[in-house]
Amino acid sequence: MPITARLSILLVLIGLLACSAQQADDPRMIVGPQEVAPPSELALLMRHMAAHADSVKIGLARGEKELPPFPTEIEKLLTATPTMDMHIDPITFPTFGKDYQAKVAALYAAARKDRPQAYNALVQSCANCHGTHCPGPLMRIKKMYVKVQ
Ligand code: HEC
Repeated sequence: MPITARLSILLVLIGLLACSAQQADDPRMIVGPQEVAPPSELALLMRHMAAHADSVKIGLARGEKELPPFPTEIEKLLTATPTMDMHIDPITFPTFGKDYQAKVAALYAAARKDRPQAYNALVQSCANCHGTHCPGPLMRIKKMYVKVQ
């Protein structure tokens, strides 16, 4: 097989890695492949969204008064370019995407005491979309919920 063909197969495999069920739980584990195939616009947005949710969770645990700044880049969720050849369902992806955006808005509108529930609803909206698109990060998403008294 010519080297270019082998290389493109390798790139496709690496592209699938982030969404495959075998994906390492720790996001740092995918640092290697990133250097070969640059992450898609949508993958980068996802990292942002995951980092945002993590910082909300940390803030809740610390009892902080303010939420982190509103993640304005989530406006691009429905239009960001996904990894090449990834199947994005034309019906469910926008439905789950708008639901996630609504859950973020609801979190910022919620009274402080209601934030843990609103945050869990947001994490649930990540899990809902990942149930049909890109199951790899589901393990990580499941660990993001907070306990609600
Ligand atoms: C509307 C559907 C949808 C929602 C909502 C969603 N995701 Fe994703 N997520 C995807 C898709 C599709 C990909 C694959 C993107 C790509 O490779 O281009 C992805 C990729 C990822 C990745 C891997 C990124 C990488 O480095 O390759 C992580 C981690 C992730 N999502 C976490 C989350 C978290 C956390 C949330 C909620 C805060 C969330 N996702 C909400 C569909 C969604």
